[in-house]
Amino acid sequence: MPINDTIGKISGNFKGKDIASTDQFSPKDFEKVFSVADEMKKDVQSHKPLSMLGGYAVGLMFFEPSTRTFSSFSSAAKRLGAVTIEHQNPAQSSSVAKGETLEDSMRVLEAYSDAIVLRHPEAGSAKRAADAVGIPVLNAGDGPNQHPSQTLLDLYTILEIFGHLDNLKIAFVGDPLHYRVFHGQFSGLSQYGGNTFYGISPKGLEMPKEYRNESYQDVVIDMKDVNKTLGEIKPDIVSVGRIPKEYISGDASQYNFVINADTLKELLPKSIIMHPLPRIDEITTDVDADPRAVYFSRQIRNGLYVRMALLGLVLGKIS
Ligand code: NCD
Repeated sequence: MPINDTIGKISGNFKGKDIASTDQFSPKDFEKVFSVADEMKKDVQSHKPLSMLGGYAVGLMFFEPSTRTFSSFSSAAKRLGAVTIEHQNPAQSSSVAKGETLEDSMRVLEAYSDAIVLRHPEAGSAKRAADAVGIPVLNAGDGPNQHPSQTLLDLYTILEIFGHLDNLKIAFVGDPLHYRVFHGQFSGLSQYGGNTFYGISPKGLEMPKEYRNESYQDVVIDMKDVNKTLGEIKPDIVSVGRIPKEYISGDASQYNFVINADTLKELLPKSIIMHPLPRIDEITTDVDADPRAVYFSRQIRNGLYVRMALLGLVLGKIS
């Protein structure tokens, strides 16, 4: 059975739940997070002092590099009044360096925390960690598998801009095989009617079979033709990601592509360009100022609000 099918659904009740995969969410669960995130956004923007998680501790254990996800979870916990226990690079800095297993490290962190946020390079590690402890584990990226809090911020951003999550045309540009961000966006948006998906990738990097459904179409191309292809599809959402070299054996540079000012000419005025960041060289910096580019202007900030919502919900402070 695929890993993500073994994780319990949210079914309207977040308290005490692990958040390991986007597949745990129904549209109602998404809506719940988004309505709480709206409240968090207002409170953050008005600098309202918050104490909902006073007396709580959140452990952050990040075995892979991270800027946004780590900082926003840390900020989210602290803004709500929790303390944090932070391990960046535990493979070097914690007892993992001595050979401690993930399960044992999680049990240790459990003694000091009320929830654990974990990023780890292995697919299924979030589920393993969740099975090892009795407190909520929030998956902040488990290798090439899932990154559910990123999916939440992506869907929240799409909803904010379009006002709906159905009847959209979405193009994934990059590596749908390994890019966990695309997996989450696809499984999340697949729950809404009338969405159509296009995987624009080099040959060999197509979306894994377990995610596919009839609304997904591969457009395997020589990535030099990416502008022409986007001009033909005219997607509402151009979801771009870097080629994740860490999951690719062999020469990943053969897969390089670029979204640039010429790409913008092919897109509709209402289209948006999303990217979870970090951007390496797959989007040129002259695209950033275009109002259709929403990665710096909206996605990063929305990550804070949805992560605040998620922590409040799984720790049972909001129902
Ligand atoms: C992404 C991730 O780690 O999956 N980054 C993020 O969390 N904002 C994307 C990436 O690594 O390219």
